[in-house]
Amino acid sequence: MSDSSRRTFVQASAGLAALSQFPRPALAAFGGAATVTIPKDRMSTLTRWPRYGPEEKTALHALIEENRYYNALPQFEKEWQQFTKAPYVKAHMNGSSALTSMYFALDLPPGSEIMVPSYTFFSTCLAMRFFGYVPIFIDIHPKTACFDLDDARKKLTPRTKAVVAMHSWGLPCEMDKIGGWCKEKGLILLEDSCHAHGASMQGKMMGTWGAMGVYSFQASKLMPSVEGGVGMYQSRQHYERAAAFGHYEDPPKFPKDSPVRAYEGTGFGMKFRMHPFAAAVARVQLRELQANNALAIGNIRKLNTRLTQLPGLFEPLVRADQNRVYYHANMLFLDEQKAGFKRGQLLKALQAEGVRATMWDYPEQHKLKIYSEAKWWHHAPVIPPTMPGNAHVNATHIFLPLLHGPAEDVIDQYVQAFEKIWARKSEVSKL
Ligand SMILES: Cc1ncc(COP(=O)(O)O)c(C=O)c1O
Repeated sequence: MSDSSRRTFVQASAGLAALSQFPRPALAAFGGAATVTIPKDRMSTLTRWPRYGPEEKTALHALIEENRYYNALPQFEKEWQQFTKAPYVKAHMNGSSALTSMYFALDLPPGSEIMVPSYTFFSTCLAMRFFGYVPIFIDIHPKTACFDLDDARKKLTPRTKAVVAMHSWGLPCEMDKIGGWCKEKGLILLEDSCHAHGASMQGKMMGTWGAMGVYSFQASKLMPSVEGGVGMYQSRQHYERAAAFGHYEDPPKFPKDSPVRAYEGTGFGMKFRMHPFAAAVARVQLRELQANNALAIGNIRKLNTRLTQLPGLFEPLVRADQNRVYYHANMLFLDEQKAGFKRGQLLKALQAEGVRATMWDYPEQHKLKIYSEAKWWHHAPVIPPTMPGNAHVNATHIFLPLLHGPAEDVIDQYVQAFEKIWARKSEVSKL
C-alpha cells in the first residue's frame, strides 16, 4: 500500500469508527423517534386537493350575478381549444359521458372490437357497451404502467377497429409508436387523457394524438371542476356526432350538409351538458393548470432525484420527448430483491417514520363481473388468463403524496426517512 492510500485508509477507518460511536437512530417502527416532524395541518395544506381560492369564488359569483349561465360553456370550450390546439372541442357532463359520446361518434358496426387497457377506470371499457362494441383487454408495460403495444400486437383480431390509450397517472403512452401501428393496421386511435391534463409528447398535447380524446375534470383530477369533462375531435364528422349525442340543442348549429343536423331538439337521446358552474371553475383552473403542475413536478424532481439513488427504488420510465404530469400521486416502483425487504415492510416502516406512503391497486377491469357475462355484450369479451404488466405494477408500486407548495422541509425529511430505512434494511425485513 502506498503512503497516500494508507493515509486515506486510516482516515476512512477513523471516520467509520466515529460513526459507530453515534449509532443511527432506531426505526420508528421499533420505537425510535419518527423522522418526519412536519405538523399535520401543514401537510394537510400542502396535499389538499382540489385547491380553490378567491378566483373560483369570484367566477361563480359573477356567473350567478350575470344570470346567463350557459355562456360559460362556449367560453370554456374556446379556451380549452386554444390551450390544446384541438380542432374541435365539446364540453360534457364528465369524463364518462365524454367517453360515451366518443364511442357513439365512432359509428362502427356492432361487434367491432376496441383495444383498451384493463388498468383503467370502468368507463373507458364499459361506455362502448351501449353501441355493441366489445373490449379487448390490453396489458400495461411494467416500467410505465401505460399501454403495452407488444401485447396489443398479439391480440389483434379481424374485428379490431380501434385502440384506446390511457395515459396512466399523467405519463403519456408512446403515441408515436402506437399511432404508427394503428395506421399500419387501419385502426382508429383514441385517447383517454383523464389523468394527463397539461401533458404532451413531442410538443403535442395528450388528447390530440388520436382521432378523438377525452378528459375528466372530476374532483381528484389535475384540473378539477368537481364534475366535468371534455371531448376533443380531429374531424368535423366525429365532433358533430359526439356533440349531437348528448346535446339536443347543437344539431341546428351545424352546417347544412351535416348528417346530424336534422336531429334538432332530440340529439340522440342523452343530456350530457356540463354544468355551467363547473365550466366557470374549469376556466379558472385552466389558467392555473401549468403553474400548478410545475410546482408539484418541481417537488417531485427534488425528491425523486435523491430517492432513486437508493437500491431498488425506481421511477416510471419517461422518454426525453415526453412532458409528463402527475395525477393522484408520485408513483415509484420497488424492486424487493435489490432493496432487501418487501413492499409491505417498507410501507410499515415509512408510515411509522411519518411518511405518507400508500399503495392502491387499480382494479383490473377484466376481472370484474360484468365482463364475464356474455349477456351484456354483443359477443363475450375474451378474459385474459394473466395480465403480467398490471400485476407487476399493482404489486410493486408505492405512492407518495403530491406536494402543492414550497416543501423543502418535507422533501428533506422524507429523504432522511427513506435513507434511515435503507440503512437498517435487515431490521426492516423483520417487520
Ligand atoms: C382513466 C379514467 N377514465 C375515465 C374517467 C371518467 O371520468 P369521470 O369520473 O369524470 O366520469 C376517469 C375518472 O374517474 C378516469 O380516471
